[in-house]
Amino acid sequence: MLDKFDQLIKKAKNFSVSSPNDIEKFRLTFLVKKGLLNQLIQEFKSLPNDQKKEIGKVLNITKQTIEEIYDLNSKRIINNNNLLSQKNDLPGYYSETGSRHLISSVVDEMTSIFERLGFSVSIGPEIEDDWHNFSALNFPKNHPARDMQDTFFVDQQIALRTHTSSVQVRLMESGKLPIRSIMPGRVYRNEAISSRSNCFFHQVEGLYIDKGVSFSDLKQTLYNFVKEFFGPETKVRFRASYFPFTEPSAEMDIFLGTETESDYKLTKGTGWLEILGCGMVDPNVLKNCNIDKKYSGFAFGLGVDRIAMLKYGVKDLRTFFNNDKRFLTQFDSI
Ligand code: DAH
Repeated sequence: MLDKFDQLIKKAKNFSVSSPNDIEKFRLTFLVKKGLLNQLIQEFKSLPNDQKKEIGKVLNITKQTIEEIYDLNSKRIINNNNLLSQKNDLPGYYSETGSRHLISSVVDEMTSIFERLGFSVSIGPEIEDDWHNFSALNFPKNHPARDMQDTFFVDQQIALRTHTSSVQVRLMESGKLPIRSIMPGRVYRNEAISSRSNCFFHQVEGLYIDKGVSFSDLKQTLYNFVKEFFGPETKVRFRASYFPFTEPSAEMDIFLGTETESDYKLTKGTGWLEILGCGMVDPNVLKNCNIDKKYSGFAFGLGVDRIAMLKYGVKDLRTFFNNDKRFLTQFDSI
């Protein structure tokens, strides 16, 4: 009889319980009236009375053990099930994917046009020294030309760059010729903030230095850019201008017309809007950067924010950097 109790406990321990169904099977196998435990109890009842005392104790322990195994298994399965259902109840994890900022997309678009014309991409620091931002670019000390750009100074020699032309100097100084590169980046000016101007904005500078580069190469490069970027029918014009680092210098306008109120305002009633400055690199700049006299070159600088406003109908420059997702997500697909 004692052996039978032992075997019953072993059987209960080895009974595999991995689902609520198995718990029920366990109960039906061991604990119901016709179950294995009750069969042993019936056998026990038929024992002679003098054996009942000792064997009764073992029977009780067997019964308790089997009930404990049942309880433990039930708790384990119920806990597992609760965890599973809690998992199912957790809110789904939803993450919105970000997208490129409109200014970055416009820079990418410009870059790919110039890359097709053989230009590489270079970058330079936003905190610049006087030499790279001004002196090497032929802005003499105390010359009024320095006032063309209101500058944020860090100290007397260091400033936040006012234009990406500083990267031209760094490229030329590196001495690797010929150069055919564009230089996108952020620039800073101490200007009153309004819908049309901000204290920082973005430029794409271009520089081409080689033997025999002429003004007509410059014009052709920029025509090509404008037709690709704004469309083949875009009308452009060059106007003579002044920059210390180019000679001759010019500005390029595109024709918007005056038909809509916003074009009228934007072009101050002329129909023409300036989009870039350019020119032949001044011999003084070439000399400052130790470029041999055999070489000549052209340079240009485009204002990215203004071009982005124009192409995508943005009315207020400040909205680019207010971080308002309602504005930014409009350009997700660009
Ligand atoms: N650096 C000028 C500015 O910020 C733009 C510019 C004009 C760049 C003429 C050039 C250039 O490279 O040739 O206003």
